[in-house]
Amino acid sequence: MSERIILEQAANKTVYREGSRIVKEFTASHPMSGVLNEAYIHACVEDAGVPVPRLLGVTPSENGGWSIAMEYVSGKTLKELMDENPDKADEYLEKLVDIQLATGKYRVPNLRNTRQKMIDAIQTLTEIDASTRYELLQRVHGMAQHSKLCHGDLVPSNIVLREDGSYCILDWAHASAGNAGADAAITYLRFSLDRPELAEKYLRLFCRKADMAIQYVQTWMPVVAAQQLTKHREAERELLEKWISVAEYQ
Ligand SMILES: Nc1ncnc2c1ncn2[C@@H]1O[C@H](COP(=O)(O)OP(=O)(O)O)[C@@H](O)[C@H]1O
Ligand SMILES: [Mg+2]
Repeated sequence: MSERIILEQAANKTVYREGSRIVKEFTASHPMSGVLNEAYIHACVEDAGVPVPRLLGVTPSENGGWSIAMEYVSGKTLKELMDENPDKADEYLEKLVDIQLATGKYRVPNLRNTRQKMIDAIQTLTEIDASTRYELLQRVHGMAQHSKLCHGDLVPSNIVLREDGSYCILDWAHASAGNAGADAAITYLRFSLDRPELAEKYLRLFCRKADMAIQYVQTWMPVVAAQQLTKHREAERELLEKWISVAEYQ
C-alpha cells in the first residue's frame, strides 16, 4: 500500500494522494448528494472529452462520509508555477485564459444551466434584502441563454500542467452550461480576492482573447458575487457585498 500524502485539508474535506490515485475525502457532515453531484459532473465532462483526471470511483469512507477517487495527474498546478516563478505570471495567465476559452467550446449535456444556478443561489440568500435580490434576478433574466461549458471556479489551483505542456482541469463541483462572461466574472472575482495584483490583467486579457466587451463581464459581477456569498466565507464578505451593491444603483 502506498504512503498517504495530504495535499489539501479544509473543514469539510481532505484531499490526499496514494500512489497513482487522488482521493477527495469529505466529512460525514458534507451531504452525500453534494459528493455524488461533484462526481456526476466530473463524469459528464470526462465523457464529453474534456481533459480531466480519470474518475476511479465514489465510495463510502471510514469517517462516515463519502470519497471521490481519481487518477493522479503528474505535473504542477498553475498556482504552484505562479508561486515559484512570479516573473512568468503573464505567461501563466495567458495559459489560464486559453484553457478557459478552450473549455467553453465543449457542449456537455445534463449540466445545470448557469443562469438557473445563479437564480437558485440568489433566491436562497437571506443575507441580502428582497429588493437587492429582485435587482439581481432581473439582471440574470436579462442575460442571453448560452450553453458553453463553464467550470465555475477556474482558478490557478484547479489546473495542472504536465511536463509535456498538456493540461488537466480539476475540481468540477461548480460547473454548469451557460455564459462564458459569468465564468470569467467568477475567475476575476477569485483573482480579486486571492491574487489582486493579477485581477485587472486577467480581465483585460480574457476580454481581448474572447473578443468580449468588459462591460458584459461586469454585468455579471454583482450576480456572481451574490452566488459566492452563499459559500459563507467570512473573510470575503465585505468585498462581495460591495460588488453586490452595484446592482442596487443601476
Ligand atoms: N487528480 C489530481 N492530480 C493531481 N493533483 C490533484 C488532483 N486532484 C487534486 N489535486 C491537488 O489537490 C488540490 C485540491 O484539490 P481540489 O479538487 O481542487 O479540491 P478543493 O475543492 O479543495 O479546491 C488541487 O489544487 C491540486 O493541487
Ligand atoms: Mg480546487
